[in-house]
Amino acid sequence: MSELASGTGTMVTPRAERPEAGPGGAAATPAEMAPLEVTDLRTTFVSRTRRTEVVRGVSFTLRRGETMMLLGESGSGKSVTARSIMRLYGSSAEIGGQVKLGGRDLLDLPEAELRSVRGGQVALIPQDPTGALDPLRRIGSQLTEVLRVHGIEHTRRAARARAEELLRTVGIPDPARVATSFPHELSGGMRQRAVIALAVSCDPQVLIADEPTTALDVTVQAQILELLADLQHRLGTAVLMVTHDVGVAGDFGGRIGVMYAGKLVEEGPAADVLSAPRHPYTKGLLESLPTPEVERGRLRSIVGSPPGVGEFPDGCVFAPRCPQAVASCHESDPPLLRIAPGRGAACPVANPPRPVDSAEPGRAA
Ligand SMILES: Nc1ncnc2c1ncn2[C@@H]1O[C@H](COP(=O)(O)OP(=O)(O)OP(=O)(O)O)[C@@H](O)[C@H]1O
Ligand code: SF4
Ligand SMILES: [Mg+2]
Repeated sequence: MSELASGTGTMVTPRAERPEAGPGGAAATPAEMAPLEVTDLRTTFVSRTRRTEVVRGVSFTLRRGETMMLLGESGSGKSVTARSIMRLYGSSAEIGGQVKLGGRDLLDLPEAELRSVRGGQVALIPQDPTGALDPLRRIGSQLTEVLRVHGIEHTRRAARARAEELLRTVGIPDPARVATSFPHELSGGMRQRAVIALAVSCDPQVLIADEPTTALDVTVQAQILELLADLQHRLGTAVLMVTHDVGVAGDFGGRIGVMYAGKLVEEGPAADVLSAPRHPYTKGLLESLPTPEVERGRLRSIVGSPPGVGEFPDGCVFAPRCPQAVASCHESDPPLLRIAPGRGAACPVANPPRPVDSAEPGRAA
């Protein structure tokens, strides 16, 4: 079975229509209202010869029905963050910090329990969708297996009907035909829709979508993003979306966490971050976007390149490329500090602390 769906869960009423109730029917607690709380997440890959820290203290909160975009250049640690949340690296990585899903820390769960959460309460649309589908099995059979293993449907017939319904839900016009197809018989867009059907089959509280439109043409990309927004609206799912595309981040809205060298360097509402960035890296990222001026040969880009993994300089890791760097920047690596309600930036030089700001390292909201 794919990593998307290796647990148990129940396909129930869309989340938006469900009464808010905690365990035993009690009113939902604040923890339940924030289905995902990631605190000081650290991922270190370990081999016999070396240890490489790739994610270096990422913290954020994803509330019910909210979208959070992880935006950053290639290699900044977005996918590793997404996969670490689901503990998908086995013994090849040490994962530290806390990943609380509805109040339970996934990093502490025994593997058997984790399997029941993965694919059930939290599901992943991986960066490479081909890896999410078994190439040797028909789409319908993959869906029905998930539905039956997770106890959502108990008979083959009901599971088949539910699988077709899911395929229809994700905008596949001829679900009966697609259900009997192998993955290679589908177009890229249809395959991605099938992957999304698998991911939402258990009505997850949190859906992690890692570059869900990579390798699709522009029209299909727009359709897939629209589908995800629609599913999120209908099911009340919280979505963590990974992208290196500022356009996607702007279109999808919600909150943005900007990643650089394994850390969040800026966080806040998408519209605010994109219109008025407060960290020099975010500013550079946005200024390097193609504009009409590019045509006239005045493209600006961030000088230099990101540090290699495990080659992080002392002090602020962006200092070697930062146009605003001062001597103190080379002394210590600034944490993400709250700079305004709901906004954080890891740069005290561009955002000098004010008495009104209550500094809460690692979480802007
Ligand atoms: N399994 C692994 N073992 C060792 N290093 C890894 C592993 N997976 C990723 N890395 C390294 O971790 C760093 C971050 O990788 P990651 O895949 O998270 O980048 P990304 O931000 O998702 O980039 P992209 O936009 O290209 O997908 C990279 O330098 C990568 O080489
Ligand atoms: S702390 Fe210094 S080097 Fe880092 S982003 Fe801010 S100004 Fe630039
Ligand atoms: Mg990636």
